[in-house]
Amino acid sequence: MNGLQLLGTGRCLPSRRVTNEDFARTLDTSDAWITERTGIRQRYFCAEGETAVSLAVGAARQALEDAGVQPGQVGLCIAATFTADRRTPALACEVQAALGLPQTTLCLDINAACTGFVAALETARCLLLGGQLAGPYALVLGAEKISSLLDFSDRSTCVLFGDGAGAAVVRLDPQAPWAAVFGTRGDGQVLHGGGPEDPYLAMDGRAVFRFAVETVPVCIRAVLDKAGLTLDAVDHLVLHQANSRIIHSIAKKLEQAPARFYENMQRYGNTSAASIPIALDEMRRAGQLCPGQTVLCAGFGAGLTWGGVLLRA
Ligand code: COA
Repeated sequence: MNGLQLLGTGRCLPSRRVTNEDFARTLDTSDAWITERTGIRQRYFCAEGETAVSLAVGAARQALEDAGVQPGQVGLCIAATFTADRRTPALACEVQAALGLPQTTLCLDINAACTGFVAALETARCLLLGGQLAGPYALVLGAEKISSLLDFSDRSTCVLFGDGAGAAVVRLDPQAPWAAVFGTRGDGQVLHGGGPEDPYLAMDGRAVFRFAVETVPVCIRAVLDKAGLTLDAVDHLVLHQANSRIIHSIAKKLEQAPARFYENMQRYGNTSAASIPIALDEMRRAGQLCPGQTVLCAGFGAGLTWGGVLLRA
């Protein structure tokens, strides 16, 4: 079915760990409020000198090493991000320079917010299938420095997010199952930020919650239908790590045990496009994600956007 095989993963978190208790010292909030509503207990923020690029490079280096792939074999470097350090050049180009990827590598960023990594996987698959890339491997990154968009006096948003990067090395696998489903509900109000009039991230939390719980189960079922698979044929469900309650509500709608859905937002908060590759890396390094297994990844977020794809480990 010409799907993607996951050959290696990596992750990089910045050095400044901030717990819920740390926030409670400067904001009218508490560990109990944040934990009960979101599952998040701590997150990492960039310290002086740490950037979206430095995190992406750290994660990418690990992923190449894990995959046993040389920089010279990479035909595509694609970074999903909505918080690149600069508007240009693309973050992926700075990764190319830092890792010594060949000059024949196509490097580009995409912004689909928290759906970004899933969209980048589908983009990578299409480009690999197109046959014009100079190498058979794609380096797919999710890298975010969301702290640059946070208002640290707004308790309703700043406690939810974190910085980080995750990376995956993939190649085409004719035997791997594939299906991809995407959607967009253009809405500039529900979740937005980074513009001249709205420099900080702002959102209607309840509307985002409702949107995710309504859309993601339908998306997951559509991916499975397209691939001719049932949920039982999927070994792991790796969703965007925004909120534990969102994942549990999605699990309930799909009549699945919550334990089937990987969760790590307690350690990292919501790292947007980086959350799924960070989760894949944790699972792989813990021996939870084994060769030959099938993973369904689904993202959702600003746009509003959503998407789901399959991966063969
Ligand atoms: N600590 C304590 N109280 C807080 C708080 C915080 N960090 N943030 C908000 N509150 C307060 C609100 O001001 C409100 O107070 P009020 O009733 O006096 O006005 C109260 O808590 C309830 O707020 P509400 O927004 O109704 O809470 P909620 O139960 O919906 O939970 C979210 C809020 C943000 C945790 C929840 O809506 C959510 O997780 N939404 C999804 C957000 C998300 O994941 N976005 C990214 C998706 S990619």
